[in-house]
This record gives sequence, structure tokens and C-alpha cells, in this order.
Amino acid sequence: MEEQIIQLDSVDSTNEWVKRNIQKLHPAKITLVVAKKQTKGRGTRGKSWSSPKSINLYASYYLQQSAQTPLANLAQITALSVAKTLDQLEIATTIKWPNDIFASEKKIAGILCETIPLADFIGVIIGIGLNIQMTATEAALIDQPATSLWLETKKNYTVEDLLPILHKNFVKYLHTYLQEGFSPFRQELEQKLLYKGKRVQAQCGGKMIAGVLHSITEEGHVRLLLKDGSFKILTSAEIRPIVQL
Ligand code: BTN
Repeated sequence: MEEQIIQLDSVDSTNEWVKRNIQKLHPAKITLVVAKKQTKGRGTRGKSWSSPKSINLYASYYLQQSAQTPLANLAQITALSVAKTLDQLEIATTIKWPNDIFASEKKIAGILCETIPLADFIGVIIGIGLNIQMTATEAALIDQPATSLWLETKKNYTVEDLLPILHKNFVKYLHTYLQEGFSPFRQELEQKLLYKGKRVQAQCGGKMIAGVLHSITEEGHVRLLLKDGSFKILTSAEIRPIVQL
């Protein structure tokens, strides 16, 4: 697949920009939209995503796929490509299932994946927010423990440093996923799994389930080991560690 890159100065949200311009984007290319700043950056679960100018990376990939293409793991393989990028800079990362990227047990990057049904295809938008130069003061304003490349390394990385490495990793992971599905990534995700082997609670809809975070299935779902020795497979949940006092 060919690629095109669109650079924007200021935008409400790169995901929203893609939605507004979807008809103008090349259907056979992977489009990458990058903005210096977002005025209404969006996170998952209706949260906002802090997006001050030129501090962090705000980008969305857009691709068109047939309705038959498996898309369920796209956010996970994107998270793995972000984690791989940081590993190449010797920043140790973990993934909080399903697709949050953590460093030092704090969130450093997040993925917002959305699909748009089109006439004969599905439009897929994969938003990536990666904290690069965010300071401790800025991180403290976020509603969960957050970190950045600067806070982890005290090195002055820029978007220009990160984007080519991330882009290469993303395109490679995407092609593998589209050709071979999720199984080549299962082990990588399991090895990077935050809280693996620890007691966690999983919020699934209105229900709270406690168990030990055991493993990842071939489909990218999470397997919990329950108190009675049985396993429970979760397809979507918010995972939190159970802190022993
Ligand atoms: C999350 O909450 O973990 C997902 C955060 C995703 C943020 C990125 S920044 C680029 C793209 N545009 C948005 O409005 N959100 C995503």
C-alpha cells in the first residue's frame, strides 16, 4: 500500500479531521495526518486528550478496508508499534490491555481507533497520542498517572525524531496483521502485558470481576484466572491492579 502524509498546524482533532475529509482521501493509500496542536483532542471513553502545541505527537492513520478484513486488533497492533518505537530508544514499555502504552507504570501513549461504514468499504481511523516533551507539571493535570519521553529519559526528543521510526514500525506491523492476522503478535503483547501475573479487577460494563491476569488469547482477548481455578476470557474491560494493603 502506498502512503501519503498530511501535516497540519492546528486542528480540533486529527481523528475528526479525517472524518470531515474522508471523501477526499486516497482510498488505496495509507494516509497519515499529523498536527502540531489539537484544540479538542479526544481520548477513549469520551475523555479529552491533552494536546498543547509542539509538545507531543498527535497523529491519525486512515485506511480503507473491505468489510471482510479483520479489524478488531488494529488498535492493539498500533500500540505494539508505538511500544516497539520506544523500545528502540531504550525506553522500557508495557501495554495495559487492550492498547494503552505505559512506561514506569504511567501512561505515555494512547490509541483511539474508530471505524466509519462507507458505501462498499470500511474507513478505519487510528489516532495516536504520544507524550514527548510533557513536563511533570503538565502530566499532573491529567486524570491518571502520565509520563513522557522527556520525563523518562531527560532527553529532548521531538516529533520529527519519533515520527519516521513510528511510521516504519506501524506500516510493517499493519502489513503483517493484514496478511497473517493477530497470531504473530500474541506473544509480543503477552510479554509486554502490564500487571501480568498480578491480581487485577476488570470493569466489564456494570460488572466487576477479580482475578489474576493470566495471558492473551489468539484473538487478543485477555484471560483471567479466577479464585475457583477457572478462566474467564474478556473481550473488553478496564483493567486495574488490586493493591494489597
Ligand atoms: C486514549 O485515551 O488512550 C486515546 C488517546 C488518543 C489520542 C490521539 S491524539 C491524535 C488523535 N486525535 C484525537 O483526538 N485523539 C487521538
